[in-house]
Amino acid sequence: MTKKILVLSGSPKKDGNTATLVNWFTEGARLKNAQVEVVNTASLKYKTIGCTSCRSCQELKKYECVIDDEVKGVLGKMAEADVIVMCTPLYFFSASAQLKSVFDRMFSLYKWDNEAGTMETPLKGKTLVLIASAFEDAGLDALERPFALTADYTGMKFESLLVPNAGVSGDIKNKPDIRLKAIALGKKVAAG
Ligand SMILES: Cc1cc2nc3c(=O)[nH]c(=O)nc-3n(C[C@H](O)[C@H](O)[C@H](O)COP(=O)(O)O)c2cc1C
Repeated sequence: MTKKILVLSGSPKKDGNTATLVNWFTEGARLKNAQVEVVNTASLKYKTIGCTSCRSCQELKKYECVIDDEVKGVLGKMAEADVIVMCTPLYFFSASAQLKSVFDRMFSLYKWDNEAGTMETPLKGKTLVLIASAFEDAGLDALERPFALTADYTGMKFESLLVPNAGVSGDIKNKPDIRLKAIALGKKVAAG
């Protein structure tokens, strides 16, 4: 069955390390006939900075953010995808703000019933992939943790490709071993 893969690319650098990793990953996924869409979260038009915690989404029957901007459409695509790939440079031991602005709006893809102690989400059963790079060799484990915890909480499978010592934007192009790993990961999640 053809896998639908939505890639959220969270770097402001159009031809940097994140963009290169995304290209390699999608090359692998397309080799396995996946239907791949890439969204650059740095280029989206936002009405708010991240989730406003208005909680209006919790009053709706559907899984939809009430903030009517381009993120809303991306969230709809997340609910439809089989695999969601989040790609980011390491920024101060965390994800880029450009990715986090979409990540937090995922709140609208959950419905909590605090009295019953239940949570429902269309994300359950999907696969979450984190692809990240850093200049140094420390910090990617800290970045990975919230993504892995979110996947576990949500009932998603989790995969990651973490690239320490990636250098400054663009340097990763000189790392053929990483290219092979990214292509292999693309193939794996497209096939799996
Ligand atoms: C604002 C900012 C913060 C960064 N923080 C870190 C960091 O905490 N640790 C690190 O190793 N690299 C850090 N870097 C380097 C990038 O994570 C690294 O060069 C990455 O591969 C760049 O990816 P890109 O080309 O897609 O932007 C930072 C870069 C920027 C611009």
